[in-house]
Amino acid sequence: MTDARTRIVERGYDEIADSFAEWSARVEGDQRERWRRELTDCLPDGARVLELGCGAGVPDTQLLASRFLVTGIDVSGEQIRRARANVPAADFAQSDFTQLRLAPDSFDAVAAFYSFNHVPRDVLGDLLVRIHSWLVPGGFFLAALGTGDTESWTGDWLGTTMFFSSFPPETNRRLLVEAGFELILDEIVTMIEPEPDGESTWQWVLARR
Ligand SMILES: C[S@@+](CC[C@H](N)C(=O)[O-])C[C@H]1O[C@@H](n2cnc3c(N)ncnc32)[C@H](O)[C@@H]1O
Repeated sequence: MTDARTRIVERGYDEIADSFAEWSARVEGDQRERWRRELTDCLPDGARVLELGCGAGVPDTQLLASRFLVTGIDVSGEQIRRARANVPAADFAQSDFTQLRLAPDSFDAVAAFYSFNHVPRDVLGDLLVRIHSWLVPGGFFLAALGTGDTESWTGDWLGTTMFFSSFPPETNRRLLVEAGFELILDEIVTMIEPEPDGESTWQWVLARR
């Protein structure tokens, strides 16, 4: 069952679908294109890719779906509705990805663009273990992870109530290794979000099962 913290995320992204899209377009220094390419350069055409927290499907799901068989997951019904309209070539499901139970070895890659800073800390380690099991041996995991030492933050964000949670990079790294991943790339990247004092720091990782 989806917990109350993720329900806040679900409701929030339902409510701010338009303003989030506008806000996102004004972020400066977003390196998602480079990191998406780091993943896609490792994959053959037709690879099975699972995207966790796909949002409205642009730009990442759309670009991934031009070469791969993509399944996008998002807890927000409004984001999934938009993703289906924006990316007819991909499959989508409205679901809490922390609750997903999938067959072992069922994906060649799992990707998460800016969604794991909404995962409550106490479930991150188990989620990474499950992601590792969903990948084929040698499969890849790409994610932008939060870097703040934040157990739980609930408050006003873009005019809605939102929940955030994250570990510092050294804990993210330890949890990935404990889940069985080999870290191929692991970098701290700062970008500027369109807010007062909008500097925002992320840990991009490309890991292999
Ligand atoms: C910051 S948005 C990023 C959306 C898209 N990946 C992008 O980069 O534009 C985070 C997305 O993750 C989704 N999300 C967060 N936690 C989730 C969870 N536990 N299960 C499914 N989706 C989740 C939210 O609903 C939201 O659409």
